Amino acid sequence: MKKSLFFLLGLFLSLQNYSFAQEQKDLRMSIPLSDWSFSKGDFPTATESNFDDSAWEKLRIPHDWAIYGPFDKNVDIQVLAIEQNQEKVASEKTGRTGALPYIGTAWYRCRLDASAYRGKRVVLVFDGAMSNARVYLNGQEILYWPYGYNSFYADISDELKPDASNILAVSLQNVGQSSRWYPGAGLYRHVNLLVSNPVSVDVWGTFITTPLVTEQVAKIQLKTRIHKPEAAKELSLSTEIFDPRGRSLFVQKETLLIAGEFDQIMAVEHPQLWSPESPALYKAVSTLYDGNEAIDKYTTRFGIRSISVDAQGGFQLNGKSRKFKGVCLHHDLGPLGAAINRSALKRQLLILKEMGCDAIRSSHNMPSPEQVELCDELGIMLMAESFDEWARPKVRNGYNLYYKDWVEKDIINLVRRYRNHPSVVMWSAGNEVPDQWTELGIKEGKRLQDIFHREDPTRPVTMGMDQVARTIQNGFAAYWDVPGLNYRLPLYAEAQQRLPQGFLLGSETASTVSSRGVYKFPVQEYKNKKYEDGQCSSYDLEACSWSNIPDDDWLWQDDHDWVIGEFVWTGFDYLGEPTPYDDFWPSRSSYFGICDLAGLAKDRYYLYRSRWRTDDNTLHILPHWNWKGKEGDTIPVFVYTNHPSAELFVNGKSQGLRKKHNEGNRLERYRLMWNDCVYEAGTVRVVAFNDQGEPVDTSEIKTAGKPNQIELIPEQKSIKAGEDELCFVQVRIVDAQGNFCPTASNSLQFKVKGQGRFRAACNGDATSTELFHLPQMKVFNGMLVVLLQSNGQAGHIELTVSGEGLKRARMKIPVY
Ligand code: GAL
Repeated sequence: MKKSLFFLLGLFLSLQNYSFAQEQKDLRMSIPLSDWSFSKGDFPTATESNFDDSAWEKLRIPHDWAIYGPFDKNVDIQVLAIEQNQEKVASEKTGRTGALPYIGTAWYRCRLDASAYRGKRVVLVFDGAMSNARVYLNGQEILYWPYGYNSFYADISDELKPDASNILAVSLQNVGQSSRWYPGAGLYRHVNLLVSNPVSVDVWGTFITTPLVTEQVAKIQLKTRIHKPEAAKELSLSTEIFDPRGRSLFVQKETLLIAGEFDQIMAVEHPQLWSPESPALYKAVSTLYDGNEAIDKYTTRFGIRSISVDAQGGFQLNGKSRKFKGVCLHHDLGPLGAAINRSALKRQLLILKEMGCDAIRSSHNMPSPEQVELCDELGIMLMAESFDEWARPKVRNGYNLYYKDWVEKDIINLVRRYRNHPSVVMWSAGNEVPDQWTELGIKEGKRLQDIFHREDPTRPVTMGMDQVARTIQNGFAAYWDVPGLNYRLPLYAEAQQRLPQGFLLGSETASTVSSRGVYKFPVQEYKNKKYEDGQCSSYDLEACSWSNIPDDDWLWQDDHDWVIGEFVWTGFDYLGEPTPYDDFWPSRSSYFGICDLAGLAKDRYYLYRSRWRTDDNTLHILPHWNWKGKEGDTIPVFVYTNHPSAELFVNGKSQGLRKKHNEGNRLERYRLMWNDCVYEAGTVRVVAFNDQGEPVDTSEIKTAGKPNQIELIPEQKSIKAGEDELCFVQVRIVDAQGNFCPTASNSLQFKVKGQGRFRAACNGDATSTELFHLPQMKVFNGMLVVLLQSNGQAGHIELTVSGEGLKRARMKIPVY
C-alpha cells in the first residue's frame, strides 16, 4: 500500500518537473497541487518537515471533508430566533447548516519539489479554503486568510528550498454558528503554484476594459502590472489580440512603463460583442521582453461589451435595456458538497440557461474561478457578491469577527481576480447586512462602494437590502449604483419615488418553497405553511412571511420599466436553511430551489421557463395523475405555458378553455388553472392555442401502474477522460408500459464498472438522511440522479441499477 503511494507521489513530483520542461517555452506555468495527505484533528506539529503523516488519508482536492456525513441533528444545533426571518421567540434550529459535520480543525500536507524552480518566482494561489486557512512552508507560517470563499496567494520564492524537501501544510478551522447555510469544509477549491521569471506579469496583473464600444469599433485598454520591474534592463510589452475564432488580429508593442505598469490602448474593428445570447470571447496574449529576450507570456481572456445603468434605460448591455432573468445560487453542488467541480457547475448553468435564465448572483460570497469562466463561455451574467455580514453579526462567529481587518483585502482580491471577465456585470457589497441601519454602517457602505470603484471603475455596485423602509429613511439606500431590494414588493413604489437612482433591482425575489413531485390539498396560497411530512407543495403557492410567489414579482417587472429585473431565491436547492422547517428534523436542505438538490426540475422551472424563454415553447402540466383513493375528489390542474390559452381534457372530456388575462385573480395572468378538475385515473391532455386561437401545441400525462422497471437517462451522451469529469444519469421508475411512476419510493442499488466510479447519488428529498456517497438510495417521487466519475482513462463506464421487485437497468457511457 505504502509502496504504491510512494510511487504515486514520485509520479506526481516528476509530473511537475515534466510539465515545467514542457511549458518552459511558454515562460510561465500554473501547476495544480492536487494530491495531499489529510487528517481531521489538531496536529500542532504537522507544520514540521519531519512530521509523520503516513497514516493520513491520501486524496485529491477539491475536497469537502464534511459531505460524507453522517447527517446529525446535533451538528451546529442553534437555539435562537432568526432575526432576518422576523422571529421573536427562540427555538431549536437543527438543519440550519446542513446537519453535516463541518465544524472542527483539519490538516492538509503535501511535498513540493522545487528543484526545477531555482531562480524563479513561485506564487502559491488558493482559489478558496474553508476556512481560517493557515499555510506553513517548512515549518514557517507564510499565510493566513480567514474568509473561506475568497482567493488568496503568497509569494513563496524566498522561502522555498531549491530541492525536493519542501513541505506545505495547511490547517483549516471551522467553528460553529459561523454560517446561515452549509459552508463546506476543507480545500474545496483548487490550489495552484504559479511559476514565472522573477520579472514577470504580476498575479492577476492585467486589467482589460472596453471604454468605448460601437458596432464599428471597440476601444480596448489593457493595463499590465509588472512584478519587480527594477530588476530588468529594458522592458517592453507586446500584445497580440485574437478574435473569438482564434485568428490573430494585430500585435501592439509598448515600451513605456509608468509606475510598474504598461498601459495599452487598442482598437478592434467590427467587434463581436459579448452577451448571454452570443458569448464571444477574445484573447490578449502579452509577451514581456527584457531587451530582446522574452521573459514572460501572459494570456488574458476578455469580452467586448458595454454596461451601464441609469434612470432612462435601466440596466443596459451593449446599449440595449434588459431586465435580469436571474437566480441566486449558493456555492454547494448538492451531493458533492462544496467541493468544486467544473462538470457539475457546467451542468448547473446549462440547466439554468435552458430555462432562459441569463444571470446569477453568487450569494452571498465570492464565486469560484470555474463558475466565472463558465459564465463567460456559456453566456450568463454574474453579480459577484462578497459578504453576508459586515461588522454586525447575523451569526455569532460569522464574518463580523474579521470585518474590520479584512474587508478591504477581501474586496481587493475579489475584484482583481475577476475584473477581466465579461460575465461579471456587477459587484455586490453585501446581503442584508444588519449594518444597514447603523450610523457606522451607512458610512461603511459608502466606503466599501468607493473601494470597489477604485479597484474597478467600470462596473456598478449593488447591495441587497431587506430593511427597505429604514434604508430609504436613513440614506443607506440612496448611494448604491444599483439599489437592490430583497423582497419587500409593497415598498417598491415608495423606494422608486424616494430614491435618487430612478430604478431598482429585485436583488432577491420569490423565496417560494416547494418539494419536487409533492402536491398538497386544498390548493391555496400560504405563508410559512408546514406539513407533517416536512415537505412543501409544488402548486407553487407557498412562500415565507417575508416573501412571495413568482407571479407577484412579475407584476412589478411587467408594469414598471424601472424594475430592472430579478434574482430569484434560488435556482437550485442547497444544503442548509430548510425554511419553513428550520426546527423540524430531519429537514437539512432548502426548499427554495427552482430545481431540487439533485438538479431535477420542479414544476416552478416551467413557470419561469414559460416567461423567460421567449425563443421556445413551454407546455407543462401539474400535478401528476396518480391519485388512487381520491377518485371523485377535486384535483386542480395547472398548466405553465408561454401560449396565451389552452383547453384541458381528462380522459377526452373537455374541462374548458383557459386564457391568460389581466383582470381579477392575479395568478391568471401567468398560469392557466382548472381549479375544479375532478380526479379519475387516465389521461390528462392539454391543447395550447396561439393568439389567433389556432391549436399549436399539445402535451399529456397518464396515470401510471405499479413500479415495474428502472429507466436510466444519461444527461450526456459521452464524457471526456479526466479525473474531474462527471456523468449525470437520471434514474426513473416506470410501470410495465413505460409510464413514469410519480409516487415511487423504491430503494435502489448502484454498481459501476469500467473506466470510472460511483461518485454520488441524490434524490432531492430535503428530509433524507441517506448519504450521498454510498451506492444505494431511495428514489424520491420516482426519481434520483447518479453521478459517475471518470478515472482518467478512455473506454466506457457501465452503470447497473437494481431494486427489489424491479427490472434492473444497465447502461454504458463512452469515455474518450
Ligand atoms: C433572504 C436571505 C437569503 C435567504 C432567504 C430565504 O432574506 O438573503 O440568504 O436566507 O432570505 O428566504
